[in-house]
Amino acid sequence: MMEKGDNLIEYKIGTVDEIPEGSCKIVTISGKSIGVFNVNGEFFALRNTCPHQGAELCKGKIVGIHVCGESIDDIKLVREGEFIRCPWHGWEFDIKTGKSLIDPKKTYVRSYEVSVKPSCDEELQVETFPTRVQADVILVKV
Ligand code: FES
Repeated sequence: MMEKGDNLIEYKIGTVDEIPEGSCKIVTISGKSIGVFNVNGEFFALRNTCPHQGAELCKGKIVGIHVCGESIDDIKLVREGEFIRCPWHGWEFDIKTGKSLIDPKKTYVRSYEVSVKPSCDEELQVETFPTRVQADVILVKV
């Protein structure tokens, strides 16, 4: 846990290797269930509550979206791995923004700032032994 000047607190939720690309880790921070996603090497965090009827949104399937091209036969899957589909009724949300695919201005899920910082063993640094660099850590600002 690290204090920040803007009244939000950064919480260490794990290391980058705990959340492989295309996956989500659900954590509880200050009583809030939050899903932390790895989308192509970038990390994003969403509240694990669907704004429709309260399902655990982040337990849904991570998907892309289908778009139509020039003709009806020209359907492409784009932005694969950038949306979460609610497990109850299938509403889809952009993992990067929390906005719903169908009604992004009115329907969204709370998103949180995520940062990744190098980690090191602080006890070893204090005692001036050689420092061991570990996997980068993921911090969620809540
Ligand atoms: S509870 Fe998520 S779509 Fe209905």
